[in-house]
Amino acid sequence: MVSILRVIGICATISLLMVALLELLYFNESQNISTPQSSHNHDWTAAFLEEEGHNASDKTSPSSNWQLERTTPRCERNTMVENIPGFHSFSHMIQDFLYYRHCRSFPMILDLPNKCRRGDEPEDVFLLLVIKSSPKNYEQREVLRKTWAEERSYKGKAIRRVFIIGTDGSGLEEEKWNKLVMREHQHYNDILQWDFKDSFFNLTLKQILFLEWMDRRCPQAQFLLNGDDDVFAHTDNMVEYLQSLKDNNGNKHFFTGHVLKNAYPKRSPGDKYFVPLHVYEKDIYPPYCGGAGYLLSGYTALVIYKISPLVEILPIDDVYMGMCLAEMKLKPDSHMGVKTLYWHVPSRKVDKYDPCYLKELLLLHKFSPTDLYFLWKEVHDPKLSCSDKI
Ligand SMILES: *[C@@H]1O[C@H](CO)[C@@H](O)[C@H](O)[C@H]1NC(C)=O
Ligand SMILES: *[C@@H]1O[C@H](CO)[C@@H](O)[C@H](O)[C@H]1NC(C)=O
Repeated sequence: MVSILRVIGICATISLLMVALLELLYFNESQNISTPQSSHNHDWTAAFLEEEGHNASDKTSPSSNWQLERTTPRCERNTMVENIPGFHSFSHMIQDFLYYRHCRSFPMILDLPNKCRRGDEPEDVFLLLVIKSSPKNYEQREVLRKTWAEERSYKGKAIRRVFIIGTDGSGLEEEKWNKLVMREHQHYNDILQWDFKDSFFNLTLKQILFLEWMDRRCPQAQFLLNGDDDVFAHTDNMVEYLQSLKDNNGNKHFFTGHVLKNAYPKRSPGDKYFVPLHVYEKDIYPPYCGGAGYLLSGYTALVIYKISPLVEILPIDDVYMGMCLAEMKLKPDSHMGVKTLYWHVPSRKVDKYDPCYLKELLLLHKFSPTDLYFLWKEVHDPKLSCSDKI
């Protein structure tokens, strides 16, 4: 009897020990599973900053907000949109857009707090180049830095540059691109990055996030060029043109590019620019400037920023800018020198790759990095002779 009790007692003790052991194992395991992403990112960022000789907790060194970013709650997707008629027949891209349409604020990964400052003072930035890029487009950025987007003073006017980008890929791939972009940021001090997926349908979001940054960090910029990273922008001509404007030093409305009027939303689901009725109900878009490149005043940029919370996001960023202008009863203007639509050039008469043609323009799209470098140098060649042309 005594021995049986003792056996039962031993069995019970062993079972209890086993349970405790299992629990310990499971607890550790689940902790590891719950935060692989954040701890991993944190580790490589800290290690990266040390490697580059920076103090990871030093707020004044090139700014990187990984810690902040990973602790800020993400904007949740809105599953109510699944009730929209036809939702399940929309492409994955449109569905994704609808799920996150309400999200307008994303954490910054790379900031440029001193872009528009000189020491403690705000700098007189005449032309701020705001270039839509994406993590992979390293070559475009590298060429733009050496050509039309070079930070310089032209005719006494300061030209400054920012690339605006989100994130690409996921997991290790995403980390690789983020690391590349962070190195560029540290070297050139010209990248603004936010933690959102850099996709075609998130371009409007990118614009809004940029305007929020400008309002905070560079409200004094007199003019802005907003454009793609594959255009030829004749920034010297732009400065001269903007300088010649009568009674506008950036403090009045100004929005100029290639204006599209009477454009309408594409309603066939296969179209690249397909917009379901639910997203945009009217059958015509307000006038807007083609998004490959347009010029605007600092005043107008901030007016658009202020009105944007009242204008629901449309995924097509250039149309969205037109919608904000319309909401404010403002109009975009056309400039002959801005050619952003592929059916304008080259015509039979002009050669898109002719430096004498480019010399007279403000903006033309689109070019490979190699052609951009070559043409920019050609256009600036003092030996270039164009007398018999144009
Ligand atoms: C890093 O910066 C923090 C805050 O600025 C400071 O307290 C710390 O001493 C610095 N560490 C080193 C190694 O410089
Ligand atoms: C926009 O970015 C958010 C945040 O990364 C992402 O969840 C969403 O899927 C993106 N939307 C589109 C249409 O790519």
